[in-house]
Amino acid sequence: MASVEFTAVAGRDDLLELLGRVPLFEDLSKKELNAVLRSAEEVSHPKGKEVVKEGGGGAGFHLILDGEATVLQSGRVRHRMGPGEFFGEIALLDGGPRSATVRADTPVRTLSITAWNFKPLLVEHPAIAQKLLVELCRRLRAAEEAAHF
Ligand code: CMP
Repeated sequence: MASVEFTAVAGRDDLLELLGRVPLFEDLSKKELNAVLRSAEEVSHPKGKEVVKEGGGGAGFHLILDGEATVLQSGRVRHRMGPGEFFGEIALLDGGPRSATVRADTPVRTLSITAWNFKPLLVEHPAIAQKLLVELCRRLRAAEEAAHF
């Protein structure tokens, strides 16, 4: 899923506008976006922080608002992420351990949503579930390709 160009976010209205531009949430009405925002938390992570750790617990979903992060598996770089991209969907969906470490390469700000707030969104908005699946397929293909090297 392509990175989205965001400028610095000031208030809630900006956050709402920004969320509406994220491909995953673009089909939601303003009311629905507001509901997502109410169930989410803005979190600031310092540079170098491992936001999620490979093999660890936790099932929150994280959308990058600003900053850059790297996805690592067994210490190897798998993917780099920026604003508008998300991580944490795998453990959220299957309840298993985190499949990778996601490390903040710069200060990173995320909009983080607990599993119990995010899962109902997938049921209520099949478009979100479909986009999530497409991105999962893309990540699976990329992982398979990397495994051949
Ligand atoms: P989860 O397993 O919950 O926590 C680690 C996250 O890293 C994972 O969800 C995905 O969001 C992300 N991730 C894992 N592997 C890849 C990959 N190959 N490409 C991009 N993102 C990945």
